[in-house]
Amino acid sequence: MKQIFSGVQPSGNFTLGNYIGAMKRFVDLQDEGNCIYSIVNLHSLTVPKEANELREYTLQLAAMYVSIGIDPKKSILFIQSQVPEHAELGWLMQCTGYIGELERMTQYKDKSAGKEIVTGGLLTYPALMAADILLYNTTHVPVGEDQKQHLEFTRDMAARFNKKYGETFVIPEPMIQEFGGRIMSLDDPTKKMSKSNPNAGSYIALLDEPSVIVKKIKRAVTDSEGTVRYDKENKPAVSNLLTIYSACSGESIDAIVARYEGRGYGDFKKDLAEVVVSALTPIQEEYKRWINSPELTDILKDGAERAHAVASTTMDKVRKNMGLVTF
Ligand code: TYM
Repeated sequence: MKQIFSGVQPSGNFTLGNYIGAMKRFVDLQDEGNCIYSIVNLHSLTVPKEANELREYTLQLAAMYVSIGIDPKKSILFIQSQVPEHAELGWLMQCTGYIGELERMTQYKDKSAGKEIVTGGLLTYPALMAADILLYNTTHVPVGEDQKQHLEFTRDMAARFNKKYGETFVIPEPMIQEFGGRIMSLDDPTKKMSKSNPNAGSYIALLDEPSVIVKKIKRAVTDSEGTVRYDKENKPAVSNLLTIYSACSGESIDAIVARYEGRGYGDFKKDLAEVVVSALTPIQEEYKRWINSPELTDILKDGAERAHAVASTTMDKVRKNMGLVTF
């Protein structure tokens, strides 16, 4: 049985990239293994946040998880800070990893470049992420491609720890999709679609109104060739739109390409907008219901208890193996 763990930061404004690259997959995986999904609010603190904002975004993400189809009866859904073992093992992972390894992380380089204030947490972020994963005997971690390096770090930390202190952790496998693992910006297909892009036209937010989605897709860059075909290298923008079409409709890229043979980008974009709106409308309807539901806190409390039961067992083993005295 697969033990699946993944997390999403409560940073507000989730994008179609988060959904296609990771969250949509979380839903399907519920039938393949034991799934644990976290709202990683401690990771969000690596970039300073207002308390009100973090609180609000945390509950929004919880509502989004259940709205896309995470079933709290099948999966454990919890807030990272409610299980203190994450911070504890995060520290031990900081003491297992090396500064050089952390400084090499591309996310750290990107997020710290040109910034006047860079928190210590931004550098040690992957140590906490390793802790998240290793606490749950995780075998599989569904993520987007941008997390690949963090997963490699996690695997290195687990192997290093096991070598020094004896078999303690399971070495996890990343699950990164070939198509959809990296959804690109609508205004620049060389950049990842990201909610932190100041141009809101570059991403589709999961809560965007249908009219906004139509407008954003209409304005999405393409190329001058005028043929709908998949060629990531020479036609990155159109290939990205095809990936989005395929992920939202469930159709294969080949079937979509065949349908648009001899037709221009106008028709393709019009239909793509419809496909995206149809995929997001039911999620948006569910979200409206969940965001004000008192049931959400019960789900999160229950999730934290169930997560804690697993995490505390792992930590007992870790403390014992590392020589941290317990009575
Ligand atoms: P975060 O919150 O930035 O993103 C959540 C998930 O969405 C994926 N993603 C994308 N996938 C495809 N195309 C895109 N444009 C795109 N943008 C985002 C991310 O790869 C991610 O899977 N470090 C993690 C959170 C984390 C975590 C963990 C994940 C903390 N602990 C343990 C897995 C296991 C992050 O910042 O994701």
